[in-house]
Amino acid sequence: MTEKRFPKGFLWGGATAANQYEGGWDLGGRGPATSDTAKAVRPEERQSFEYFASPMTKAKVMVALEDKEGLYPKRWGSDFYHRYKEDIALFAEMGFKTFRLSIAWSRIFPNGDDTEPNEEGLAFYDAVFDELLKYGIEPLVTLSHYETPIHLALEYGGWKDRRVIGFFERYVRTVFECYKNKVKYWLTFNEINIMGISGYVGGGLLFEDGKQNFQDLYQAAHHQFVASSLVVKAAREINPDFKVGMMLARMQAYAATCNPLDVMEEIQKDHENLFFSDVQVRGKYPSYAQRFFKQNDIELQIEDGDLELLAQYPVDFMSFSYYMSSVVRAQEEASGEKTAGNFSMGEKNPYLEASDWGWQIDPVGLRITLNKLYDRYQVSLFIVENGLGALDKVEADGAIHDNYRIDYLKAHIKQMYEAIEDGVELMGYTPWGCIDLVSASTSEMSKRYGFIYVDADDEGNGSYDRSRKDSFFWYQKVIETNGAAALEE
Ligand code: BG6
Repeated sequence: MTEKRFPKGFLWGGATAANQYEGGWDLGGRGPATSDTAKAVRPEERQSFEYFASPMTKAKVMVALEDKEGLYPKRWGSDFYHRYKEDIALFAEMGFKTFRLSIAWSRIFPNGDDTEPNEEGLAFYDAVFDELLKYGIEPLVTLSHYETPIHLALEYGGWKDRRVIGFFERYVRTVFECYKNKVKYWLTFNEINIMGISGYVGGGLLFEDGKQNFQDLYQAAHHQFVASSLVVKAAREINPDFKVGMMLARMQAYAATCNPLDVMEEIQKDHENLFFSDVQVRGKYPSYAQRFFKQNDIELQIEDGDLELLAQYPVDFMSFSYYMSSVVRAQEEASGEKTAGNFSMGEKNPYLEASDWGWQIDPVGLRITLNKLYDRYQVSLFIVENGLGALDKVEADGAIHDNYRIDYLKAHIKQMYEAIEDGVELMGYTPWGCIDLVSASTSEMSKRYGFIYVDADDEGNGSYDRSRKDSFFWYQKVIETNGAAALEE
């Protein structure tokens, strides 16, 4: 019997983002970004969903920016800025084939609308890419991961202003030209569907009346769609070997019962989620969107040529994050116990366990999602985030026995394999926070995903020294055997 393995050339690796990992927020000419205003959530408020849910105003942004004493952990992250060589050596030791990171736009164009780039910022990522390539690690670069330059939020209201498309295009063309021989794989907007939930996180949108409105959110999304097509166009012109992907936070929802109304609710949830990939992968607005726009009084300002651009330049592949699934039902009042999730609170699934943060663990859901997405789009898929946020304990001898993390990842890798056997084209797998970093939703350090431990606490205290968890050695073996080590019983 032949041993089970993943396809040849499968891209095993890990994922991070500048806003949660890089730090150095006021170094090297970097300008402030929206993520720098995210205050740490206290452990007792962990499931509150506050950061993603509360709309920002100019005044709130200014208070945060002027606060130099408060706890804003994304400003220092895990200090990749100073320790990238050490970190990349550890990724290489695990055998990474690829490493996902993002470029902080405000490190390249500090205000976002500048006409000349910050050379020091360009030099930083150049050195990072060289270091990765030295070990044969392929960079996978997100162009915008929850880090809009704050000046664009304050002066333009973020992505709701069409002019931001042009500023973004200038930034993208600059990095494309600069790294055209070093980077091949690019992602446009991280979890672009966050725009339907938090305009501030997704694109620096401010709401002075304290209430988000769909008109602005979906107008901003339209601008990001146009920008995404302009990114693909620039890629074709600058290096035809570039591969550009879109990135969705995949929300796998199940109908709570076989009541057709619940099943219809599931379809609607899918529409809400897949609207973003439908536009970017298929190159056009889906017909179901018209009803949603009408019901919510959304009148998109679409300029001449926009729709043609979307049709002409769809993305090359689809990437997504997958952490959990949720349960939906038509009649809210009939619903059972609630639990938290990465984008919202939802109903508890009695068949699943949940993490300490209430996220429901569902490996089979990953196979379901891979099949669904592939059936729908017929393009290569890339899982660029997956993982378990957990509280790790350091033993007296410094060891970290994170078997729970190994179990989680192993179960998901098994289902990825099944999906490939089902016929899905899967390019790679980059588990989230392969090295501990600051949480996106709660800005705390205690919620750890890494194979590599970072000695830092929620207050930013600690040596920031790195150490290998048990999962480090396990993942090393998984990569070395091209997945076989995760597939054994
Ligand atoms: C995704 C984001 O939503 O989930 C990441 O792209 C984020 O930035 C990850 O870190 C996990 O979420 P959290 O809140 O546990 O950090």
